[in-house]
Amino acid sequence: MKGLFLTLEGIDGAGKSSHIDALEALFKARGRQVTRTREPGGTPIAETLRTMILTQPMDPLTESLLVFAARRDHIVRVIEPALARGEVVLCDRFTDATFAYQGAGHGFDTAVLSALEQWVQGRPLQPDITLWFDLSPELAAERLAGARLPDKFESQPVEFFRRVAAGYAQRAAAASRFVRIDAGQSRDQVWQQIEAALAARGLMGSR
Ligand SMILES: Nc1ncnc2c1ncn2[C@@H]1O[C@H](COP(=O)(O)OP(=O)(O)OP(=O)(O)O)[C@@H](O)[C@H]1O
Ligand SMILES: [Mg+2]
Repeated sequence: MKGLFLTLEGIDGAGKSSHIDALEALFKARGRQVTRTREPGGTPIAETLRTMILTQPMDPLTESLLVFAARRDHIVRVIEPALARGEVVLCDRFTDATFAYQGAGHGFDTAVLSALEQWVQGRPLQPDITLWFDLSPELAAERLAGARLPDKFESQPVEFFRRVAAGYAQRAAAASRFVRIDAGQSRDQVWQQIEAALAARGLMGSR
């Protein structure tokens, strides 16, 4: 069985985490082993870096280096071994988020991000499919209000998320692995879009 690398992307509050349980259940019901993980994070080192990245102010290059350092550890220890075992890897955010947040959101040089991506992802390692949860920043903020305390990124103004969303749109336009999910719809409708996208790409396998 060939490994499948699926990433979930979109601004804070877009609904990524809300659908990862169902995705795991869907693939397991089809007999697949599933490794479920997230970025920044997914290993002890990367989770330590995550805490630093999400809580401490730092200059954009430092932040990008830490994000890619965490990613390197995550790829080597978790993602590549799982794919080599033929598993489905479900990853809540990956490199597209770095281009959207550090690049489009904070205006950091995307040429530097591309260079880091080459270094860290080598061959290159890219997702097979990326579910892009597209939601307006206003609706996302409404959904997040009261849900939890905001981290360093979540407390950014709505203009920041507009730039992040535009960054995702730009990435999505450039790669066929992206599936745009209209995340403004109800949970059921969002899930139907996800199932339809997986089926259309022949990724559901047989039961
Ligand atoms: N389709 C939907 N309709 C209404 N509310 C939703 C929908 N999907 C998710 N929510 C709610 O919106 C909030 C944000 O969802 P979720 O935590 O899944 O977003 P996220 O993309 O994982 O955000 P983050 O990047 O901050 O982790 C949650 O309170 C969730 O219950
Ligand atoms: Mg989440």
